[in-house]
Amino acid sequence: MIDPKSFFDFSGKSILVVGASRGGIGASIAQAFKLAGGEVTITGMEDEPAETERGRFPYVQLDVTDDAAVAALAEATPRLDVLINCAAISRRNHEYDLAIFQKVLEINLTGTVRISLAFLPQLKKSKGSVVNIGSMYGNFGSPKVPAYGASKGGVHQLTRSMAIDWAQYGIRVNAIAPGFIVTEQSRPGREDPDHYAAVVKRTPFGRWGEPDEMAGPALFLASPAASFVTGVTLLADGGYSAV
Ligand SMILES: NC(=O)c1ccc[n+]([C@@H]2O[C@H](COP(=O)([O-])OP(=O)(O)OC[C@H]3O[C@@H](n4cnc5c(N)ncnc54)[C@H](O)[C@@H]3O)[C@@H](O)[C@H]2O)c1
Repeated sequence: MIDPKSFFDFSGKSILVVGASRGGIGASIAQAFKLAGGEVTITGMEDEPAETERGRFPYVQLDVTDDAAVAALAEATPRLDVLINCAAISRRNHEYDLAIFQKVLEINLTGTVRISLAFLPQLKKSKGSVVNIGSMYGNFGSPKVPAYGASKGGVHQLTRSMAIDWAQYGIRVNAIAPGFIVTEQSRPGREDPDHYAAVVKRTPFGRWGEPDEMAGPALFLASPAASFVTGVTLLADGGYSAV
């Protein structure tokens, strides 16, 4: 049996967190893997990461909708043990515009599969692990962000499909469905006082979550502690979905 104390030792492991440039969930997950000994690279859409993230990790500017850029990064990455797919956008109150709807799907859902396929050779070699970041909105209706909800439902479903397919290579594929978390992406929602209060009221813990609270679930899913766990979407929502 593996010594459980070593479950979260990622020394010598190579980790890529796609979508960690704005100090949100991706950055917290990246920091946790780094503290656990991993060699972590982060990406984001911006030319440079947010000030809080600058210099903490090697950074690659990467648009997940750009086939050539994704292929070039994969080509330049000799090894990969853990892939975290965290890049996403939402456009609250604007997603019934079809162009915006398509863009959200292209980044959040197609981007996830594009990145995963690009790094499949490295993951096969390492018998690695993929953690996709879904959302509770992948399970519930989301009238103000219909494309976002559809994309995240797609991410949960894609997670199951990839898990089945890639088990033959020894690769595990799981997802996390965060609840309502304080980040830049959730700022428009948090600025709506009714929405903010409704989340607090329904969440058994009575508050929004912090990005750091998503790090433990990511480490667990990517670790040997989860060696027989694949195809799951782990809810991390302060009990919101249990109500
Ligand atoms: N904040 C929440 O309440 C919440 C809830 C559930 C799920 N999530 C999910 O968690 C993940 C991280 O979100 P966050 O809240 O930390 O937001 P964030 O805005 O801080 O992070 C999103 C990241 O995606 C990147 N990105 C955006 N468009 C991209 C593109 N075209 N190509 C490449 N990268 C791109 C951004 O550069 C950024 O690094 C997302 O998948 C989000 O959907 C967030």
